[in-house]
Amino acid sequence: MSEPISVQDFCRHVLEEGGLDAKLAAPRRANGDALRDDPDAPALEIDAPARSLGLRMRGGAPRLPHPNQLGSPEARAVCLARFAHHELMAVELFAWALLRWPLLPGELRAGWLHALEEEQIHCRLYLDRLAALGDRLEDHVQSDYFWKQAPAIAASPHGARAFLAAMGLTLEQANLDFSLIYRDGFRIAGDEQSARVCQRIHDDEIRHVRLASDWLMRLSPDHGSDQVAAYDEAVPFPLAANRAKGRRFDTEARRRAGLSDAFIEHVRVARSSQEKAGAR
Ligand SMILES: [Fe+2]
Ligand SMILES: [Fe+2]
Repeated sequence: MSEPISVQDFCRHVLEEGGLDAKLAAPRRANGDALRDDPDAPALEIDAPARSLGLRMRGGAPRLPHPNQLGSPEARAVCLARFAHHELMAVELFAWALLRWPLLPGELRAGWLHALEEEQIHCRLYLDRLAALGDRLEDHVQSDYFWKQAPAIAASPHGARAFLAAMGLTLEQANLDFSLIYRDGFRIAGDEQSARVCQRIHDDEIRHVRLASDWLMRLSPDHGSDQVAAYDEAVPFPLAANRAKGRRFDTEARRRAGLSDAFIEHVRVARSSQEKAGAR
């Protein structure tokens, strides 16, 4: 494919080229200029990303090693590969959203493109740590956990609000917790460099969650400032508040991301339907 000139060209590169180099190329012109966002571009729906051999996704993946197992280099490699692939899926899904909703406010689209570029950086940071262990992403199983949510987002009557609730306020909100759980696991195992990568990603993720919470509310005027109502209405099943967190709940990061006390509490106490059934 030729050099991308528009945001739309760039996003198609990310989704239609199978290799890591194309997916991780920065969203700008070869001369460093910004890409032009084409207001006349038709909405484009892409069902699945192209993936070269070794990057093909399959349903499910082995359980992630527990943070207290990270003394083992094999366990560290499994985690780093899984996290790198989460970042790669985030890159692709921001490209997917930019193609699907061309008429959203330019400020939101610019925010998504910026987040996409940060996801590319995160992916590279994990890939570098993986390479330091003598390993590579292509030798691991690629789970489709993020892409599995795309059909429900695409079918939602809530449009881009479903994407904001799913991506920003569920998957990325949960990563506020997971990034610190694994930061500490790497640190205790003596892998300070991987711990620092987790911290950097945690810090960036706060801004990604804030972008989603700000825009979900701006696009949900009927809900005023009620984040709980706006989220619960827009989040596509099976995603829900109980998936928006990890085992160690970080209230402070959520406050810094602009989440209201009511929404933070809603997520903190949310239980899965299995837990509720078990409690009966
Ligand atoms: Fe990320
Ligand atoms: Fe993110």
